[in-house]
Amino acid sequence: LLVDKGNHRHFMEKEIHEQPEVTGQTLAHYLDFANGGYKELDSAIDFKNIDRLYISACGTAYLAGQIAKYWFERYARLPVDSDVASEFRYREMPLDKRSAALFVSQSGETADTLASLRYCKGAGLAIGSIVNVRESTIARESDGIYPTLAGPEIGVASTKAFTCQLSIFASLVVRAALERGTVSAEEGAQLVRSLSEVPRLIKEALKLEGEIAELGRELSEVNHVLYLGRDTSYPLAMEGALKLKEISYIHAEGYAAGELKHGPIALIDKQMPVVVIAPFDKIYEKTASNMQEVAARGGRIILITDEKGAAHTSLDGIKTIIMPNMSEFVTPIVYALPIQMLAYHTAVAMGTDVDQPRNLAKSVTVE
Ligand code: G6P
Repeated sequence: LLVDKGNHRHFMEKEIHEQPEVTGQTLAHYLDFANGGYKELDSAIDFKNIDRLYISACGTAYLAGQIAKYWFERYARLPVDSDVASEFRYREMPLDKRSAALFVSQSGETADTLASLRYCKGAGLAIGSIVNVRESTIARESDGIYPTLAGPEIGVASTKAFTCQLSIFASLVVRAALERGTVSAEEGAQLVRSLSEVPRLIKEALKLEGEIAELGRELSEVNHVLYLGRDTSYPLAMEGALKLKEISYIHAEGYAAGELKHGPIALIDKQMPVVVIAPFDKIYEKTASNMQEVAARGGRIILITDEKGAAHTSLDGIKTIIMPNMSEFVTPIVYALPIQMLAYHTAVAMGTDVDQPRNLAKSVTVE
């Protein structure tokens, strides 16, 4: 495999910067931008005739599935069970007969994900997989695959595979919602239009790299970071924490903002940075009040939001990253960029081995 870093210091940096292009390719593969619909590609999953969808995966791919759960349930009214594959495979759960299973894996070789696939196959469910490697074991054992067109991902910490996984999920959600009749053709076309904006929005987000690098230098001095979010920003908060711990070795936790008062608030003091992911949506005010609780205890807030969200906060000493305006549907894809860049620049400031962090493997083929 011959892939080089080009002008970039690390593969991870290169892969972060490839995201406008690769998400664009992936979305265009599944969606018909001209007609505001989806392409009639073979689908292992018949979304119209199932009552439940099981999604399992590991690591970052699992968090893509967690975001997809919100989307499928909201737009396609399809209940989703999203699990960490190492739990799913041993949980001995009864599987709904009118259901299908979807597995997410960049490498297509992760042992626990493969075992979960075989468990569902044994129960006779239709099996689809979202993979970046078409010749992988998970791809081969699936009834159908949804390839991510991310190209080879070399950095151990997943970046472009994640946003491409989300791009496929979003496209499948549009398809499922239209097939199930839970959105009108016009609403479906609106969702497709908002997805067509993703590559441009990611490009805009990349322009924030300079200011994010500065925040990364500040984070490189701390021992703990808390990430908070609600709705689809909650799994994204977990992804932010995962990225940071993977490559900078700083302890980080991602929490549902509403759970703050059930534990993590005890950790807040003047040393504690809290990254809040909060686009200005219908639950913004709820997250804003959690932010106030953090500020009242001296916590150092980094708020990732948009212009409206920034205008609605008047807390002292808060650092704000202002994202471009976008439809609520696509925020988890585009807001992945600042959290990836924040982890990356923190790790660079610390001088860690960003592409090959200690103790981690790109592909985990053993249990
Ligand atoms: C490893 C990698 C992660 C990845 C996870 C799942 O832990 O370091 O970046 O998210 O495996 O890998 P997969 O290939 O199944 O997506």
